Amino acid sequence: MDFIYFDNSATSFPKAPGLGKAMGEHIDNNGFNICRGSYEKSYQLQGTIIETKERMCSIFGFDLPQNVIFCSGATFGLNLIIKGILKPGDHIITSSMEHNSVARPVTAMKNKGIIWDVAECRKDGSLDPSAIEALICKNTKLVLLTHASNVSGNMMPIDEISVICKKHGVFFALDAAQTAGSEIIHMNNNNIDALVLPGHKGLLGPQGIGAVLLSARFASELDTIIEGGTGSLSDNFEMPSFMPDKFETGTLNLPGIIGLAHSLEYIENLGINEINFKKRNLTEKFISGILDIPHVSLSGIKSMDMRCSVISLNFKNIDNSNAAYLLEKDHGIITRCGLHCSPMSHKTLGTYPLGTVRFSIGLFNTEKEVDNAISAINEIVKKHQ
Ligand SMILES: Cc1ncc(COP(=O)(O)O)c(C=O)c1O
Repeated sequence: MDFIYFDNSATSFPKAPGLGKAMGEHIDNNGFNICRGSYEKSYQLQGTIIETKERMCSIFGFDLPQNVIFCSGATFGLNLIIKGILKPGDHIITSSMEHNSVARPVTAMKNKGIIWDVAECRKDGSLDPSAIEALICKNTKLVLLTHASNVSGNMMPIDEISVICKKHGVFFALDAAQTAGSEIIHMNNNNIDALVLPGHKGLLGPQGIGAVLLSARFASELDTIIEGGTGSLSDNFEMPSFMPDKFETGTLNLPGIIGLAHSLEYIENLGINEINFKKRNLTEKFISGILDIPHVSLSGIKSMDMRCSVISLNFKNIDNSNAAYLLEKDHGIITRCGLHCSPMSHKTLGTYPLGTVRFSIGLFNTEKEVDNAISAINEIVKKHQ
């Protein structure tokens, strides 16, 4: 590769080895539909889809494969949860580090009569669980949190918060867009009612596929947000109430699911702990390499505790957008610059409206690439003193 890719928070690259081949083989040899045809090949494919849901359950500590809903990605999953569960008068609590895929649907629902409170995070992006508990009131229906910030990389204290939610009988939903595939997430042990997973980031799958895992209680209270054919109870205009048909309507992205099945197998074989170890070491190396560079600051949490492999920098003597441009032009280093679809986070971190240059480390980055990035940052800073 003649470039160094540090934009894995947007989408991972490269993908799981062999992903394109697995998807191509499916499309060329097996591109049937499921839940519609009563022929052998359709049943076989349906079996593969169910096995993929079982694999999801084994990776994410869940025991209801029928409550794994495939969808187009995290944005769709978050919309389903927010719009399907909240009714006028209901109260939702989020943190002040959420992505627009939470902030925008919640705002749309606010315009329809729901109440939204934001638990303010500290200036480094971290959240005190008591800030959530203090906001819970009698009409609180849902606490929805990002597991890790896509701007600063800090992780939310979900163990404590899920216990608080359980104590108050409030649903707890987790946006695992930045952690799925590299942090251990246990749906049952963490009392998670709804877990949102994009397939194309840390899970190393293709774009356009993701999943939502729903607890039995949450799934039964959740309303549909789209309706249509399921291949079941076809003589009825009402949506089936059983899972997964209640929420999986229309033809699924089967090539995407086959791709995800391939990448999940790869991840399971490697082990999440191993992946976490590798990304954590690279992140630590990166952070310790830039902390002493003058005129560059790390946004948010400095310590390695409670953080993932997302690193946001603020250049003082040069525009962040110019720094990102020079990183690519002179050093072949690809980053992302700006607000990263999360203005709330930048307001919390004090980097609004200019944003940051984000380096997001992936499984396939190397120590040499991290060294190259540190020297490139040094060089850009020196040239602009
Ligand atoms: C924290 C967070 N939530 C949700 C999303 C939305 O994910 P997608 O664009 O895959 O739907 C992102 C995307 O970057 C994200 O970082």
